[in-house]
Amino acid sequence: MFEPAGPVAADCAANAFELAVRTGLAQPQKIIPARYFYDEAGSQLFEAITQLPEYYPTRTETAILADHGAAIAAAIGPGRALVEFGSGSSAKTPLLLRPLHAAAYVPVDISGAYLNQSAAALGLQFPDLAILPVLADFTQAFALPAAVAALPRLGFFPGSTLGNLAPGAAIDLLRGFAQLLGPDSWLVIGTDLAPGPGKSVAVLEAAYDDAAGVTAAFNCNLLHRINRELGGTVRVAHFAHSAVWNADLGRIEMHLVARCDTDFTAAGQAFTMAAGETIHTENSYKWTLADTRLMAQASGWTPAHTWTDGAGCFAVQLWRHNCGAMQP
Ligand code: AVJ
Repeated sequence: MFEPAGPVAADCAANAFELAVRTGLAQPQKIIPARYFYDEAGSQLFEAITQLPEYYPTRTETAILADHGAAIAAAIGPGRALVEFGSGSSAKTPLLLRPLHAAAYVPVDISGAYLNQSAAALGLQFPDLAILPVLADFTQAFALPAAVAALPRLGFFPGSTLGNLAPGAAIDLLRGFAQLLGPDSWLVIGTDLAPGPGKSVAVLEAAYDDAAGVTAAFNCNLLHRINRELGGTVRVAHFAHSAVWNADLGRIEMHLVARCDTDFTAAGQAFTMAAGETIHTENSYKWTLADTRLMAQASGWTPAHTWTDGAGCFAVQLWRHNCGAMQP
C-alpha cells in the first residue's frame, strides 16, 4: 500500500532555496548548503555518481548490508516502522526490509518527484507493506505520519549523509532523531570512514572528482538550478568543479571556483565574483569509528554493533536509543 506525499511542502522548499542563495552568496566565503543539490536533475546525477568506479561508498555499504542485513534485522526484531532519512532512490532499503519484517516504511526526502517515484517502485517489491512517504528536509522538525504513531521505530540513515554536517550539527540532528523515533528505538547508520591504512587520500579525492565528470556536473547543476528556479543569469561555463581533502578539519570540500571575473543576478540580487573566488557547496566529513561512537553517546544513542568492509572504507552501525538511562 503506497500513499503519495502531498505537494504542500514543495512551496516551502522553493522559498528555502531562495533564502539560502540570497544569504549564502552574501557571505565573504560564498556558500550554498549541500541539501540544495537535490532537485530532480541533481537527484538523478547523484544516482549516476553512486554507479561510478571511483565512488566506493555506495557499493561498499551495499555489500555490508547484503552480508549483514539478516544479522541487523535479527538484533532488532519485527513489527517496527522503518523511517529512512534522505531515502533518495531507496536502492539499499530492500537489503534491510527483506529480513526485517517491518510494519511500515516511511521514506523521508527533500526531492518530491523522486520520493514518490522511489516509493511507488518499492511498493511493487513489497506489495503488503504500508509505505508512507514524507516530503521534508529532515534537518528541520517534521512529524511522522499518524499511521505509525503507535509503532516502535527503527531509523535508517545510510549513505554517509551525516557527513554533510559539521560535528556539532551532526550531534544536534542525531539528538533530533532520538526524540522523533522515541525511547524504544534503534538507528542503523552508515558512515564513510577517515583515511587509514586501507584507504588513501588519493582514493578519497578521486571519489569526489571522477574522470567522467559526473561529480562536476552534479556540482554545476546547483548553478543551473539557480538559473532555472531563481531567474539567475549565472554563466555556468565561468565555473570549475573543485574537490579537495581538508586534513585539519577531516573533510572533503567541494567548491565552484570562478575561472575568471564574473557577475550574475539571482533571486533579484546582483553578485560579482573575482577569478579564483569560490562558492563552497559541500563538506563531506570522514570520521573514525571512535569519532562516530562519541557522537552517538553525545546525542542520546548507545552503540550496539559495528560492521565494516575488510579495507576499513565504510561502516554500518547499529545504535540503541539511550532512553535517559542513569549512568554510574
Ligand atoms: C550523499 C552526502 C553522502 O558526501 O559522498 C557525492 C554526496 N557529493 N559526491 C557524499 C556527494 C559528491 C554524498 N553524500
